[in-house]
Amino acid sequence: MRSAWLKKRLELEKMMGVDVLFKKPGPEAELRELEEEVRACRRCRLYQERKQTVFARGDPRAALMFIGEAPGREEDLQGLAFVGPAGKLLDKMIFAMGLKRDEVYIINIIKCRPPNNREPRADEVEACFPYLERQIDLVRPQVICTLGRPAANALLGTSRSMGDLRGKWHSYRGVPLLPTYHSAYLLRSPGQKKKAWEDLKKVIAALTDGPPPLPGLF
Ligand code: URA
Repeated sequence: MRSAWLKKRLELEKMMGVDVLFKKPGPEAELRELEEEVRACRRCRLYQERKQTVFARGDPRAALMFIGEAPGREEDLQGLAFVGPAGKLLDKMIFAMGLKRDEVYIINIIKCRPPNNREPRADEVEACFPYLERQIDLVRPQVICTLGRPAANALLGTSRSMGDLRGKWHSYRGVPLLPTYHSAYLLRSPGQKKKAWEDLKKVIAALTDGPPPLPGLF
C-alpha cells in the first residue's frame, strides 16, 4: 500500500521535473525547456555557422553567476560554456575564490559562436537577450560577475569602457553585478590579473557578508 503510494508520488514528481522526493522544485525543468528552445533558435544570422548552441555550464542553484561574451571554438564543439583556454583560466579564478567550477553557474550573453570569435553585434545581443533575462530570472543568483566589456554593457544597457565599469558595483534588476576583466583578456594581458583578483575579492565578500550597497539605493 505504502510502496504503491511512493511509486505514484515518484512518477508524479518525475513528470513535473522534480527528481528528489520532497525536494522543492528548482529551476532545472524550466531551464531544460529554455535550452531546448535555444537549440532551435534562428533569431539571428549566427545559427547558420554554429555547430551547436551553448546554453550554460554549472549549478543552476548557484549563488554566483558568471556572464561572458560568446562561445568560442571549443565551446561550439562541446556545447558547454567556458571549456576552452579562457574557461581553464576562469576555473583557476573560481578555485582561487574558494569555490569549485561546478558550484557556480556560467553563461554568455549570446548562445552561438560568432565567426572567427568576433565581438557580438548589437542586433545579435538584442535577439538573444530574452534568453539571458530568462536564465537570470530562473537561477536568481545572489551576485552576478560579468566578464569583459560586452557582457557588462549588454546587461547595464550602457556603452562604457572597461576601465569605467570594472571593480564597481552595479545592479541588474536588483541583483548586485560586478564587472571584471574577461579571462581571455587576462590570458593576453597577465599583468592585469592583480586587478581582476581585487574585483573577485569583492565578489567573495558580497557572497559571504551580504549584498554591497548598490548605487541609487543609499
Ligand atoms: N569566451 C566567452 O565569453 N565565453 C565562452 O564560453 C568562452 C570564451
